[in-house]
Amino acid sequence: MSTAQHWGVHVKQTYRATVLAARPRGIPVPSDFAVVERPLVLPGPGQVLIQNLFVSLDAGFRHWMDEGSSDHILPEMPIGEPVMGLTLGRVVASKHPGFAEGDLLMARLAWEEYSLTDATDFFVKVPDEYDCPLSYHLGILGDTGMSAYFGMTDIALPQAGETVLVSAAGGAVGSIAGQVAKIYGARTVGIVSGAAKCQQIIEQFGYDAAIDRTGDVPQQLAATCPDGVDVYFDNVSGPLLELVLNNIAVGARIVLCGAVATYSASTPLPGPSNLFNLVTNQASMEGFMTHLQHDRYPEARTQLLAWAAEGRLRNAEYLMEGIENAGLAFCHLFEGRNLGKTIVRLAE
Ligand SMILES: NC(=O)c1ccc[n+]([C@@H]2O[C@H](COP(=O)([O-])OP(=O)(O)OC[C@H]3O[C@@H](n4cnc5c(N)ncnc54)[C@H](OP(=O)(O)O)[C@@H]3O)[C@@H](O)[C@H]2O)c1
Repeated sequence: MSTAQHWGVHVKQTYRATVLAARPRGIPVPSDFAVVERPLVLPGPGQVLIQNLFVSLDAGFRHWMDEGSSDHILPEMPIGEPVMGLTLGRVVASKHPGFAEGDLLMARLAWEEYSLTDATDFFVKVPDEYDCPLSYHLGILGDTGMSAYFGMTDIALPQAGETVLVSAAGGAVGSIAGQVAKIYGARTVGIVSGAAKCQQIIEQFGYDAAIDRTGDVPQQLAATCPDGVDVYFDNVSGPLLELVLNNIAVGARIVLCGAVATYSASTPLPGPSNLFNLVTNQASMEGFMTHLQHDRYPEARTQLLAWAAEGRLRNAEYLMEGIENAGLAFCHLFEGRNLGKTIVRLAE
């Protein structure tokens, strides 16, 4: 085992990580997470050491905190081990032929200050040439921006004048999805929690109207989408999906991006009882996985950055500092406290 001094790199002898202290029962709470200090181990053959600069908090990772949740995407997270997630980090030492010191990477790693890895999982090199803050690579230029871009551009195909409805509309993916739909000329309606957030998404992300999911949703759907919903960009699933299916227009496209409302459910939620509405309205419903399309990230980055440069796309962040706040920031996602992309800055 080598030490930092042998490598001559300016890294610490120990680092901090946020581990899964307990399996969340329902919505995650801060005591489900704990911060531990670990010895820093430098790379052996085929390995790379990454200093994580930002941790991305992604609601979807809640699924793999449950016992028995292993699937073809990820294994269940072990208790006492660093919580898996997405990070933006820089290579500080490499004995891996594919990575050099200084490389900037978006990777599926863990909530930790440093990660030692053989880089067999999801690793995307991020070009350093973009003229934007580094954190944008977890926001409009990251998995978040890509999800909004691929979902809207490939599946939703919004046309000028159509009504596009977005759930979790003030969140990381939703805030960008709404803005992208607007760029395509659609009329946008966002679903969020609370009157204050309804106002914020109209002012900050250009939504034409907003629905408070804690209020009378059927009544608000009828009022804000009188001609029906042409596109539903669904980040939450659950009971909201069923309500929206009662208001779709003929030819509607429903983009299944995520299912926040189901991630913390201890027993499976009942499925929508009204799928026949898809038949009568000749509508479609399609899901997608963003990270499987990483060969298209350069195309998406170029377009998203161009829109940002034109002032048509805004990167919004809900930023916290320090690895000790990763668990708390994650909990805030399920309370709807965030506006924009939830990230924790570890270093820069
Ligand atoms: N398909 C893919 O490849 C892909 C990639 C990335 C993300 N995603 C998915 O995209 C979705 C959004 O993720 P994100 O990381 O951008 O999170 P986010 O939208 O920034 O945060 C989650 C939001 O969900 C809403 N929410 C929380 N609990 C809810 C509930 N029980 N019912 C309805 N809404 C609830 C909250 O907003 P309000 O309280 O304001 O409603 C909260 O702000 C997730 O489902 C995620 O898994 C999919």
